[in-house]
Amino acid sequence: MARRNKVTVVGAGNVGATAAHWIASKELADVVLVDIVEGTPQGKALDLAQAAPIDGFDVKLVGSNGYEATADSDVVIITAGLPRKPGMSRDDLLKTNSDIVGSVTEQVAKYSPNSFIIIVSNPLDAMAQVAFRRSGFPKNRVMGMAGILDSARMRCFLAEALDVSVENVTAFVLGGHGDTMVPLPRYSTCAGIPVTELLSKETLDAIIDRTANGGAEIVGLLKTGSAFYAPSLGAVEMTESILKDKKKILPCAVFLEGEYGINDLFVGVPVKLGKNGVEQIIEISLTNDERSAIQKSAAAVQELVDVLGI
Ligand code: NAI
Ligand code: 2OP
Repeated sequence: MARRNKVTVVGAGNVGATAAHWIASKELADVVLVDIVEGTPQGKALDLAQAAPIDGFDVKLVGSNGYEATADSDVVIITAGLPRKPGMSRDDLLKTNSDIVGSVTEQVAKYSPNSFIIIVSNPLDAMAQVAFRRSGFPKNRVMGMAGILDSARMRCFLAEALDVSVENVTAFVLGGHGDTMVPLPRYSTCAGIPVTELLSKETLDAIIDRTANGGAEIVGLLKTGSAFYAPSLGAVEMTESILKDKKKILPCAVFLEGEYGINDLFVGVPVKLGKNGVEQIIEISLTNDERSAIQKSAAAVQELVDVLGI
């Protein structure tokens, strides 16, 4: 009998538990939820397992404070860390989350040496770099989720402005997951038509601004934490594309070695995700302004990486 896929989600907080929920309800894989807080991963896994008979999904859900149960996972999603609080920038999280992501990655590499690692913890691009360095995995097996979230936010705002289905709208966001991210309206479409032909510059500028500040908008509303429904589903879309070898083109943070003029750094760009993880990095042509915006965004990521000395 074929073995069922296995996904470990580290961090059983808002993003992690919701990712486990999406994975189970889509019947993508058995799930192991890991957290340092005693009882939390076990309780959430049990609660989700008890939802299975109602929704009709057949996957195993296990919660743990250790890594033995995670052995031989196909994909590991790392959401462990502290979330942003109001007034706190993503970069304030740098030191604390880097220690957390570093120690989690060591355990993941030990117990699941052949896994694909998807980082969600912030600051995203720098945390992906931490996981890449600490795991010793090849660059096709370590990636960060942010571009899917940022472009989903832009798609949501574009669809609202155009009064059309979100399914008709694609959007392109490049760069690091921070205030310097680069939403590209020129490559964003409604039913194949560039949105630059459908919306005024004023409207597009407002949407670009709202997208770049999309995380802070939700933190400001929630007050006690940050977004988790869309972020967790972004990580699950990446997981699904790998497990099902869908070869979706998705914006992900990956290790660049010269692409877009960026070297030895994780930055968000379009990639093809399939059974070998990051199978291709897609380079699109950019205007001078767009190119300098992505380089500015990469420089902001580089600053964090330099602070960490990785
Ligand atoms: P949360 O606070 O609800 O959950 C984080 C969980 O990590 C907590 O349950 C905590 O106990 C656990 N944890 C801490 N240290 C750990 C360790 N060493 N091992 C295992 N678990 C550990 O936070 P939330 O909302 O789930 O966010 C998680 C992370 O994801 C944050 O860093 C947040 O900024 C980031 N994030 C990133 C997004 C992106 O687009 N890349 C979007 C949304 C959140
Ligand atoms: C977000 O963009 C906090 O990075 C997180 O919602």
